[in-house]
Amino acid sequence: MHSPTFLVVDPAHFEVSYSINPWMEPGRWSEDPAGQRRAARAGFADLTGALLRAGAAVEVLPGVSGAPDLVFPANAGVVLDGRATLARFRHPERQVEEPVFLQAFEALRTRGLIGEVIVLPDGCLQEGAGDFLWDAHRALFWAGHGPRSNRRGLDAVAEVFARPAVALELATPQFYHLDTCLCPLPGGEVLYYPPAFTAEGRRAIRDRVDADLLLEASDEDAARFCVNAVAFGREVVMAQAADRLRGVLSERGYRLSEVDLAPFILSGGAAYCMTLRLDRGLDRASTPALVLQEPAE
Ligand code: ARG
Repeated sequence: MHSPTFLVVDPAHFEVSYSINPWMEPGRWSEDPAGQRRAARAGFADLTGALLRAGAAVEVLPGVSGAPDLVFPANAGVVLDGRATLARFRHPERQVEEPVFLQAFEALRTRGLIGEVIVLPDGCLQEGAGDFLWDAHRALFWAGHGPRSNRRGLDAVAEVFARPAVALELATPQFYHLDTCLCPLPGGEVLYYPPAFTAEGRRAIRDRVDADLLLEASDEDAARFCVNAVAFGREVVMAQAADRLRGVLSERGYRLSEVDLAPFILSGGAAYCMTLRLDRGLDRASTPALVLQEPAE
């Protein structure tokens, strides 16, 4: 068995210099850019430390000047069974990341960490795993659309992977990527923030998740970006949580690692956004072809 493997991006060029979601306040960043940058480096180091301690492997991509949100590789693409679709971003501020992530995916392919890279057709908007969450327990994708990804992008990715994708419309500007308001846990629980969805979306979730597995996030959990969690095995890594959620997770048998990600939350992202899992589906016995190499030290 290999370790869960995550792509992360070094925050050397991270900053909040524009605003494309309601959390982003460039004014607040510019009050103390040096302090923010220091806190971002520390938060990133703590996040990768927590992932490694929990038994994961990380692949670190260098940052690129002029692409501050590159630190959120969850948006780079969707990866399953060793195949990757490349994102198509809605905002020009993030479209600059597409060639960088394409090159990164190609480099991972050369090293055998990804088998195939797929570019989506024109007209698709699709912001990667941030809007396409694999639920291993149910063998389906939860797929968000609205603020960032469009239906065309959603359908295109669903077709590539030929797995069920449950379309969920995102109803608020605050919870603009699905990973800010829904998190499938390895034991089958789904942590979600109901007000982020339409009535129809909430119904679609309840139809597929037994009541005893459906965990509701509070306003506070959502605002702390705790739904934006990385989970594998019994490990959950997230931003600083409130007591109630800590209790819920420990009752369910999860080991929680909390990381101070304040500078990234000021950009509208946290733990899950800052990672892209590369080995989804590869642990299934039925997975063909691709052999995952041990990541280099
Ligand atoms: N500032 C980034 C943006 O607005 C944050 C992205 C967070 N990523 C995520 N998967 N939710 O695009």
